[in-house]
Amino acid sequence: MTDVKLGFVSFAAPSAGVLVVFCDDQLNFGSQTAKAVAGAGDLVRRAAKAEGFTGKRGTVLGLPVPHGLSIARLVVVGLGKTGKGEPGEFVNLGGTAMGKVPNAARDVSIFAELPGRTLDAEQAADLGLGIQLRAYSFDRYKTKAKEGEEKPASKKISIAVADVAATRKAFAAREALAEGIVMARDLVNEPANVLYPKEFARRAAELKKQRVAVEVLDVAAMKKLGMNALLGVGQGSRHDSRLVVMRWNGGKKGAAPVGFVGKGVCFDTGGISIKPASGMEDMKGDMAGAACVVGLMYALARRKAKVNAVGVIGLVENMPDGNAQRPGDIVTSMSGQTIEIINTDAEGRLVLADALWYTATRFKPKFMVDLATLTGAIIVALGHENAGLFSNDDDLAKRLTDAGRETGELVWRMPLAKEYDKLIDSKFADLKNTGAGRWGGAITAAQFLQRFVADKTAWAHLDIAGTAFDSRQTEINKSWGSGWGVRLLDRLVADHYEG
Ligand code: BES
Ligand code: MN
Ligand code: ZN
Repeated sequence: MTDVKLGFVSFAAPSAGVLVVFCDDQLNFGSQTAKAVAGAGDLVRRAAKAEGFTGKRGTVLGLPVPHGLSIARLVVVGLGKTGKGEPGEFVNLGGTAMGKVPNAARDVSIFAELPGRTLDAEQAADLGLGIQLRAYSFDRYKTKAKEGEEKPASKKISIAVADVAATRKAFAAREALAEGIVMARDLVNEPANVLYPKEFARRAAELKKQRVAVEVLDVAAMKKLGMNALLGVGQGSRHDSRLVVMRWNGGKKGAAPVGFVGKGVCFDTGGISIKPASGMEDMKGDMAGAACVVGLMYALARRKAKVNAVGVIGLVENMPDGNAQRPGDIVTSMSGQTIEIINTDAEGRLVLADALWYTATRFKPKFMVDLATLTGAIIVALGHENAGLFSNDDDLAKRLTDAGRETGELVWRMPLAKEYDKLIDSKFADLKNTGAGRWGGAITAAQFLQRFVADKTAWAHLDIAGTAFDSRQTEINKSWGSGWGVRLLDRLVADHYEG
């Protein structure tokens, strides 16, 4: 990952390195910016004319060694019409600006100023978050740069702001969040030969450094608890399954925690109901729900959130093997309900069945939200711009929808209803793990999960198959794994469950 050291400084014209500034569609600068580039005279306007740069949003004008200034490069980022004030505006702007910084640059100054106004501390800190997120790339396994490209140099980035102390303070929580998102992206991007359940659990256990209490349950411990739905999925793998429990207690002593549960299928071949070869490599990302829970727990602990939170992740590998689970097998879940396996590729719901039951009965949370790359059907329904939201609780659903709008991690509510239950009733057991046909596949999956929500716990299920990886290239993410959900749930907690 590109090594970025980000800091906040007062406005002062830099004498070296790359300077990034913003202008509107009249090529106007803010007053500090105008001062800093004054030495170049009308160079910017002349260059803009020559290049056809009009300051449209997201466009950029780059001037190497601008005459009259001692910096190496001036980067002018267009804002278009400014001041629309949509949520996430400055996070995205930070991402856009960072995207215009050349790979080779080491020393970068960014002026957090728009024509007519400087950014306040929160906005400038948002800009910093966007910069940090855009700087991420997963290049651990690249031994050389692409032909004609340079490997990104490590960078010192100074953001010039009006109120340095207030911006630093506002940035602290966002830095924690950025690190949590990066952690989630790293986990999703990591290949399955490296990141199998035991190794995933080891990485989650590193949260102990942030004073998160971490317990790792192995196969024997899960057998004792009766988690045969989860264990059945992993029984064909050379890699033993794990369940990891992470607890952050930053809230009132004894207050019920908020709960987060993640699907952690480190690789999903489909098992005996094996998947087609094409695109199967993407199934290294089938643990994105678990990755989000780890990144979230990290962020909450790192920013010392005033909340009690518990994260539970079920880690398995779904493989075909002489010992693998078969279609027709019947397993008894921790809840006591029996499940007939119709399709071994509908494994995520089996993992979550036990993880959800365990979370609700052991921790009695205020609510629990699970995240899972659960169905291809949700991608058919919603594409890549919304995750599917299913919930038994209207208030929780609304809060998640609002947090989605605020962070740009959108969720769209889908139905649950008892009429769907007949689709998962089994001839031989209490229920079966796939619907009768493929219609409503995301709904029958959610309907299945609901049967494992103990004690009427308030619960929401996020089907993130369309948002967790691939096709989520935005201004703040150019990586395959998006880290989707960390910002959403951090916001949910910050808005409603702290203090
Ligand atoms: N992990 C997959 C779902 C998935 C597909 C996630 C594409 C991300 C991208 C899940 O385990 C799965 O295989 N679901 C099946 C369920 C079916 C067998 C009922 C599906 O969606 O086809
Ligand atoms: Mn599957
Ligand atoms: Zn899966």
